[in-house]
Amino acid sequence: MSETKQVAVLAGDGIGPEVMREALRVLDAVEKRYGFRTERREYAVGGAAIDACGKALPPETLKGCEEADAILFGSVGGPKWESLPPDERPERGALLPLRRHFDLFANLRPGVCLPELTAASPLKEKLIAGGFDILCVRELTGGMYFGQPKFYGERDGEIVGLDTLIYRRSEVERIAHMAFRAAAGRRGKLCSVDKANVLSSSVMWRDVFTELASQYTQVQLTHMYVDNAAMQLVRNPGQFDVIVTENTFGDILTDEMAMVCGSLGMLPSASLCNRGEKTFGLYEPSGGSAPDIAGKGIANPIAQILSMGMMLRYSFGYSEPAQAVDAAVRAAIAAGVRTRDLSTGAPDEQIVTTSGMGDAVISFLR
Ligand code: IPM
Ligand code: MN
Repeated sequence: MSETKQVAVLAGDGIGPEVMREALRVLDAVEKRYGFRTERREYAVGGAAIDACGKALPPETLKGCEEADAILFGSVGGPKWESLPPDERPERGALLPLRRHFDLFANLRPGVCLPELTAASPLKEKLIAGGFDILCVRELTGGMYFGQPKFYGERDGEIVGLDTLIYRRSEVERIAHMAFRAAAGRRGKLCSVDKANVLSSSVMWRDVFTELASQYTQVQLTHMYVDNAAMQLVRNPGQFDVIVTENTFGDILTDEMAMVCGSLGMLPSASLCNRGEKTFGLYEPSGGSAPDIAGKGIANPIAQILSMGMMLRYSFGYSEPAQAVDAAVRAAIAAGVRTRDLSTGAPDEQIVTTSGMGDAVISFLR
């Protein structure tokens, strides 16, 4: 662990900077404990960058990301920039170009409901007794988000809006391999979600998964239509181990998954691409910039802290420190430490601020 890793830190808008501060404090503590070093450089992104230089993703930021080993991302967007043309807004102007530029095709979103937090979930406790642990693998650079043509204008005397849902076989193959491998490293169950009863792209998707399954005999592959998957996630989330799906379905299902876990503030994510032996990635909380609570010191930093942990695991190969971060978060929760979003009013809860949660996680680092 001698080589110093370069981290591009893009805190962004809303609660981004305050939760990023805690993730970096935890990173400091992990580095001390495990004797490795990272060098961090901060760059402007999103609304903050629009205010500073007129662009959501300034060239210096992109260059800084290119020079780094990983990107630690906060969140972007807010009411201040919502009146801009769609392509210039922080979300479409920064996040989507970053995904595209770095070919971050695999988005891993763990949906973990800890046993202590089942009461924070909107689901009945009897449906999720003991919690659950799902990993959603979302294809992130294909499908309707990027498919061409895209068009909004007049055609044949009427205004139309057009998006294209297209997948190439190679795009499905690479996300499939990623998902099969993830399932093999967990409980060995992979549920591929599609709409093969209606969409051609889904029929192809399903064929690819069925073919590749023979290379992963330790994984049990099932298929599910996306409407049924949306229903099963609220009926019995514990039935899932790894879910894999295309970009748009994954966008929708992961918000649902996040909600049934209890709080958006808990869920990290990793957006990955292969670079030879290395895995480059952008690591960000699954939730948004939450402008309504920004600056109040009440945001939950856990998603950002766990995203930093995923960076240690996937981009740097530091599995022991990564495990320590996960374990420290679990220990803080088990000890009753809660930011406001996690509170259920139980008598043994200790309600803390954003930095109070950072302190608690650091104190539980082993
Ligand atoms: C997400 C977000 C983004 C998406 C938006 C902000 C472009 O909702 O990461 O899930 O749709 O992918
Ligand atoms: Mn989304």
